[in-house]
Amino acid sequence: MPTLGVNIDHVATIRQARQTVEPDPIAAAVLAELAGAEGITVHLREDRRHMQDRDVRLLRETVRTHLNLEMAATDEMVKIALAIKPDYVTLVPERREEVTTEGGLDIAGPIDRMTKVVDKLQSAGIPVSLFIDADEIQIQAAAKSKAKFIELHTGQYAEAKNEDDRATQLHLLKLGCEIATSLNLRINAGHGLTYWNVYPVGQLPGMEELNIGHTIISRAVLVGLERAVREMKLAIAGELQRSAL
Ligand code: PXP
Repeated sequence: MPTLGVNIDHVATIRQARQTVEPDPIAAAVLAELAGAEGITVHLREDRRHMQDRDVRLLRETVRTHLNLEMAATDEMVKIALAIKPDYVTLVPERREEVTTEGGLDIAGPIDRMTKVVDKLQSAGIPVSLFIDADEIQIQAAAKSKAKFIELHTGQYAEAKNEDDRATQLHLLKLGCEIATSLNLRINAGHGLTYWNVYPVGQLPGMEELNIGHTIISRAVLVGLERAVREMKLAIAGELQRSAL
């Protein structure tokens, strides 16, 4: 069974909506680990729209499982990763206007530059994962770059319009896993996975870790809302004990 890396970016998104101190993603990481998460994933974006440098620094000190830093392959981010030394780095494409990461990274085109970035990080003892589509050319380029892992983009599978399309996308992911394994690449996957579509992806051959964020944080908001409202009613009535929180 693959392990679960919980992406806690959305916790920081809520905090940044008010530019305040709550909810703190560091607390969220602790709770995710207590619940069984085997890894914590955060994306430090160039525009710092959710995670901040302080978060990544503190997570490095507090995460007890492993810290996966998602980032663009830029000089600034490489410098930060070399200083913070996460357990591994996942290189992702990044465009300022996008709502979330769209599509996999192109490794095959800028292969020389990507190989240099991979080498710089891995020479410093930070294994690199490349977030790519299940496309043979990209998987071969990932192997050529000497990255230890790929993360297969499951967005098209998650967004499939019907069962036939979903089966086709799952088959493409399976072929991707087979090619990656034949090239000695280790395999993670993520993007758009939910409680209802995750199981078949976890069954793919060689799958090591699933990185999941949106659906978990969405569910956390809903399953936690009732308690949060009850506690506010008590607070308004002057009956909320700090020790009860
Ligand atoms: N993997 C990568 C590389 C991502 O960029 C993201 C989204 O930040 C995820 C996994 C998690 O996707 P989701 O939030 O849809 O579960």
